[in-house]
Amino acid sequence: MESKIKTADGTETFLNEEYNEAYHSTKAGAYTESLLKFVIPCRIDSLSLEKNRIDILDVGFGLGYNVAVAVKVASDKNPEILLDITSIEKDISVFDKIKKLSIPENLKEIYDQILSGRFEKNVYRAEGKNFRLNILFSDARQILRSLRKKFDAVFYDAFSPKVNTEMWTVEIFKAVKELMRQEAILSTYSASLAVRKGLIEAGFKIGLVEPVGRKSYSTVATIKGIIPPLTQKEKNRLENSPYAVPFHDSRNMDLPPYVIKKNWESIVEKNLLNFE
Ligand SMILES: C[S@@+](CC[C@H](N)C(=O)[O-])C[C@H]1O[C@@H](n2cnc3c(N)ncnc32)[C@H](O)[C@@H]1O
Repeated sequence: MESKIKTADGTETFLNEEYNEAYHSTKAGAYTESLLKFVIPCRIDSLSLEKNRIDILDVGFGLGYNVAVAVKVASDKNPEILLDITSIEKDISVFDKIKKLSIPENLKEIYDQILSGRFEKNVYRAEGKNFRLNILFSDARQILRSLRKKFDAVFYDAFSPKVNTEMWTVEIFKAVKELMRQEAILSTYSASLAVRKGLIEAGFKIGLVEPVGRKSYSTVATIKGIIPPLTQKEKNRLENSPYAVPFHDSRNMDLPPYVIKKNWESIVEKNLLNFE
């Protein structure tokens, strides 16, 4: 059984039964979250004015909002733009869910184009006037290291670290970093200290994005690009909080998620003892 949810901005999302989490923040709104936590923080709007092609890595295609909103924003800014999008998704049933969504009016044409693609083995290919989309239906931990492209922007949108822990480790962030151009920006909705610490340990500089639908700031990361700075308060938390411990996978990225989480918990427990 799956359930459709109406979010704060009127757009729809689904509850994912495996993870027991919604695909989007219900308080921010599905569309609004894509726009304000992913597309704008990655500067898709300004990049569209600077160039005619943007390479995007979209980790966790889900219901396709991040992709569709990116195409909408970019093509409104520059009618000649081409977004070359590589999405990663492990769950083929997302298409069944997308077909049951009431698609926002301004994204309908883009979703029609997304849904008019075809499968070639485990890759789904679709294109429209302003985008080329390849969705690689594989586990991100396996597929990321086999990619040979460089990207201008990364939408990093797995379920939360609590339930989808293997997607938030230092090791997977390092694999993503290898695929990013120096100026590229990675955006994620996560405000978790473990995630922020993991990004830093993977070699990123990180920054904060204004809160949407909640109190906490979301996160951006880059190798050498321009991003909003961390506040002093957040710098202190990252240095001093007993919870500022990154998740670690094995070198081959094959640890079961519960082991990654257990290892993290035992370090935090030790920190908490020293903290008291
Ligand atoms: C929060 S949802 C993404 C929402 C999506 N970006 C959108 O705009 O609609 C997270 C997605 O990550 C996918 N995912 C989780 N773990 C994964 C993994 N190990 N490899 C590939 N995809 C994964 C889930 O199947 C889910 O579709």
